[in-house]
Amino acid sequence: MSRKKIALIGGGQIGGNLALLAAQKELGDVVIFDIPQAKGMVKGKALDLMQLRPHDGHDSNISGTSDYKDIEGADVIIITAGIPRKPGMKREDLLGINLGIIKDVAENIKKHTPNAFVIVISNPLDAMVYAFHKTSGFPKNQVVGMAGALDSARFRTFIAMETGLSVQDVTCMVLGGHGDTMVPVTRLATVGGVPVENLISKEKLDAIEERTRFAGGEIVKLFGNGSAFYAPAQSAIEMAESYIRDKKRVIPCAALCEGEFGIEGYFIGVPTVIGSGGVERILEFDLSDDEKSELNKTLEAVKKTVSETGL
Ligand code: APR
Repeated sequence: MSRKKIALIGGGQIGGNLALLAAQKELGDVVIFDIPQAKGMVKGKALDLMQLRPHDGHDSNISGTSDYKDIEGADVIIITAGIPRKPGMKREDLLGINLGIIKDVAENIKKHTPNAFVIVISNPLDAMVYAFHKTSGFPKNQVVGMAGALDSARFRTFIAMETGLSVQDVTCMVLGGHGDTMVPVTRLATVGGVPVENLISKEKLDAIEERTRFAGGEIVKLFGNGSAFYAPAQSAIEMAESYIRDKKRVIPCAALCEGEFGIEGYFIGVPTVIGSGGVERILEFDLSDDEKSELNKTLEAVKKTVSETGL
């Protein structure tokens, strides 16, 4: 059986970590693509990663390129092409620059890897994955955005930090857009099956929800130049792994809704099943009245950014 191939479009901070994690998990061979000006940088990263393998004991090949031909045959594509936020910026502020980049990337992916499963990470995420889908014309099961996996990981982390319990046993989800209006669903959050509302006061839970909504910005402010990259990379790798190994994990992802949760024609964070068929299903469930109104609010925010793409 031949190895799988993973192509990373964008070899910056997240791209480099994606390459490391994909190789260490032995998901397949990795190609890191970037613009010609960054060709030396991705070739250097690839060589450095190749030289880590003797310690790790895996045989994945990692290469860097600025030639789209080299991504041909890829099973999975993960896109981080674009610019990250600087302190004081919202993700939506990146639209002007990143929209042009995602359209260019989509045209090239359509041409070189029409059958690949595509995970978009570039921000503003909900609009970027929408633009990728529109431009490429790929079927909806083949395109997904990475946001909820990261936002939920942040929510889980803060609950674990507050309770002092294992983060492994914290289950929760964040729905909606990847912005300030995202919806952490506290009602369904548990630690080892015990509802968090029994473990954490309402006041502290409200603060955790708020911190989750602005968790990306908290890191942007600390960094001063750039945005988070370790957790975003790991979140996307979980999605890629579920596809490659047909795990059918249930992960909150930006998937195209066609009626689910009453949403029509938008990519937005919902519980998604990822397996060898790509986005295989969206799991719907009953929302409380408050959750419904929060989801409507976040949908309006997503619609506004999507409308600014002109697509
Ligand atoms: N094609 C391919 N790569 C591109 C293109 C393009 N047209 N334009 C820019 N890039 C590359 C840059 O050269 C850079 O190496 O994308 C890479 C982005 O890397 P970083 O600047 O380090 O950004 P990173 O932190 O990885 O975030 C990437 O993901 O989470 C989002 O908001 C974040 O939009 C940002 C993206």
